[in-house]
Amino acid sequence: MLVSPKKMLADAHRGWYAIGAFNINNLELVQGIMEAAIMEKSPVILQTSEGAIDYAGIEFLSAIVRVAAKAKVPVAFHLDHGKNERLVRSMIKLGLHTSVMFDGSSLPFPQNSRATRAIVQLAHRRRIFVEAELGAIAGIEDFVSVSERDAHLTSPKQVAEFVKRTGCDALAVAIGTSHGAYKFKESSRLDLKRLREIKDATNVPLVLHGASGVPLWLKRRSINAGSHIEDASGVSDEHIKKAIKAGINKINVDTDLRIAFTTALREALATDTKNIDPRKYLAPARDLVTKVVREKMRLFGCAGKA
Ligand code: G3H
Ligand code: 13P
Ligand code: ZN
Repeated sequence: MLVSPKKMLADAHRGWYAIGAFNINNLELVQGIMEAAIMEKSPVILQTSEGAIDYAGIEFLSAIVRVAAKAKVPVAFHLDHGKNERLVRSMIKLGLHTSVMFDGSSLPFPQNSRATRAIVQLAHRRRIFVEAELGAIAGIEDFVSVSERDAHLTSPKQVAEFVKRTGCDALAVAIGTSHGAYKFKESSRLDLKRLREIKDATNVPLVLHGASGVPLWLKRRSINAGSHIEDASGVSDEHIKKAIKAGINKINVDTDLRIAFTTALREALATDTKNIDPRKYLAPARDLVTKVVREKMRLFGCAGKA
């Protein structure tokens, strides 16, 4: 059923586990993720970035999600990283998403608070849940010095004031992850002490972005299939578990699904060069997405919680 993420995240908050939020932009990704959610009896968040909406159109994506949500597991439909205020407002007014993220992380604190507050007021009138972001999600390795790094990560001292000023329902935090397949030069490093301080400062569910792990088995298989992702590296399962233990309740994953989809596609296209039927290479891509999402649901602790 299509639901607000409010209850699923409140349950996760109480139970110290996390709900997986997976980026979608086509039919096969939705089907692959939903198959995993059904098999694992897990609540799930399907989310569209501004880029996904540009690519496929919100009406198409929403229609696919609405059919998918007929499954017997709770499904939330979320706008990921709404940076353009006009677009976020128009998505709220359209009312197809059950939640939106307003990403004001590039703005200074007062402007981020003000803009987020205005979005929250509009969204709450329509019973739409709002995720906000404080701090900038970029990799620890992106910064030359510790002080430069700390200036970009979420400041625990600002958290209570930001949540109070904005009235946001969930908060995305910057603790050292980054988007994409190249997060760390060496092994993964998250600022878990900072996360615990943030958790102590607020009761709203916390969101971890940039959480793909680039699992070794998948990376090897992808390289074998011809992808040049030798330097890719993500957040280790150990760090994900520690982040959940420290209070993360929503975990965003896109990159690992992209790697899975592309890997299976490359394999299928290379194996049968006579094939011209898209279903013959899209079905294995969809299946590999299911495998990856099932692993995430078990890791995040949301398996069995539907
Ligand atoms: O957070 C970013 C997501 O991976 C979406 O990426 O903007 O390329 O669709 P995208
Ligand atoms: P990854 O690039 O690590 O999958 O992160 C996705 C994300 O945070 C979407 O908002
Ligand atoms: Zn993100």
